[in-house]
Amino acid sequence: MTDIVTGKPDRMVAVRTVFGIDSSLMVPAFSERDDHVPEIDEVYRFNPEVTLAILAGFSRDRRVMVQGLHGTGKSTHIEQVAARLNWPCVRVNLDGHISRLDLVGKDAIVVRDDLQITEFQEGIVPWALQRPVALIFDEYDAGRPDVMFVIQRILERDGKFTLLDQNRVIHPHPYFRMFATTNTVGLGNLNGLYHGTQVLNHAQMDRWNVVATLNYLPRAEEAGIVLARVPELADEAGRALIESMVSVAELTRKGFASGDLSTLMSPRTVINWAENCQIFHDPAMAFRLTFLNKCDEAERSIVAEYFQRCFGTELEAEANVENHAAGIR
Ligand SMILES: Nc1ncnc2c1ncn2[C@@H]1O[C@H](COP(=O)(O)OP(=O)(O)OP(=O)(O)O)[C@@H](O)[C@H]1O
Ligand SMILES: [Mg+2]
Repeated sequence: MTDIVTGKPDRMVAVRTVFGIDSSLMVPAFSERDDHVPEIDEVYRFNPEVTLAILAGFSRDRRVMVQGLHGTGKSTHIEQVAARLNWPCVRVNLDGHISRLDLVGKDAIVVRDDLQITEFQEGIVPWALQRPVALIFDEYDAGRPDVMFVIQRILERDGKFTLLDQNRVIHPHPYFRMFATTNTVGLGNLNGLYHGTQVLNHAQMDRWNVVATLNYLPRAEEAGIVLARVPELADEAGRALIESMVSVAELTRKGFASGDLSTLMSPRTVINWAENCQIFHDPAMAFRLTFLNKCDEAERSIVAEYFQRCFGTELEAEANVENHAAGIR
């Protein structure tokens, strides 16, 4: 990371006009757009409670975690708030390969005046800490425990950071902000959906000031999001199609909750399905290619039945062959 982010918020914007939320809150924002500011997604629909939680992070320096099932718009929510405030943003995916050295920094060999010298190169944490940047730890519950302890100290309010090898203490920039997204609440993979997640240290969970939850939304809201993403469906037939699609998704979620299914459709899957309908011009085929083929074979007939219930037609082709094959066996 070499490029410098400078500046500070130089104006206040009204939450009501920028996010369309019924609130008289004003929040700080930047006038200039830096390279690190995410692109605005014009059709993004803000969820009031989550947006206000994220805004508390930006305006009041709260450490905000957004937790919820997959594909509900957690990562994009934080980015879209930052995009509207012109707040520079860096997203770190805390997968199992991120090491302490990536976060803190390491000695690297560089060539200067034709000489090879060893120089300390700051990792992402000290780099961001010294700038007006929102650092987003994505997939927070996938981070390895040894890596997570690096973050522990900066989660505190005055969060100074010590670079031990450098004997240097870094004070956070007054407009440094920190966010995280996670699927679990730090208790591990309890529902079987999130293989590879870690049990989080509770002293660390305790340091997040605000935890917002973003799970599956009321159907009207979900249908609104799908329609916003696939505006071609804005006629009567399109709206009816989206209603049916959301109904199938809801049945898979109920089926999952009652133990009939081992997987479920996220809003991301519904958006994908709607987009694939535009490619294949056949909701049933698009459904097979988007979701059914990801399901366990033993569960496909249940999913096909959900489809039949919501669309009033058989899922046809592969699904029938499956059932037939299952019957023969
Ligand atoms: N409110 C919304 N308005 C518009 N699009 C949305 C909304 N919520 C989600 N999406 C779309 O759904 C997709 C999934 O969102 P995102 O990647 O942010 O989910 P996530 O909750 O971070 O998922 P995961 O837990 O798998 O990381 C994105 O393509 C995003 O644009
Ligand atoms: Mg995400």
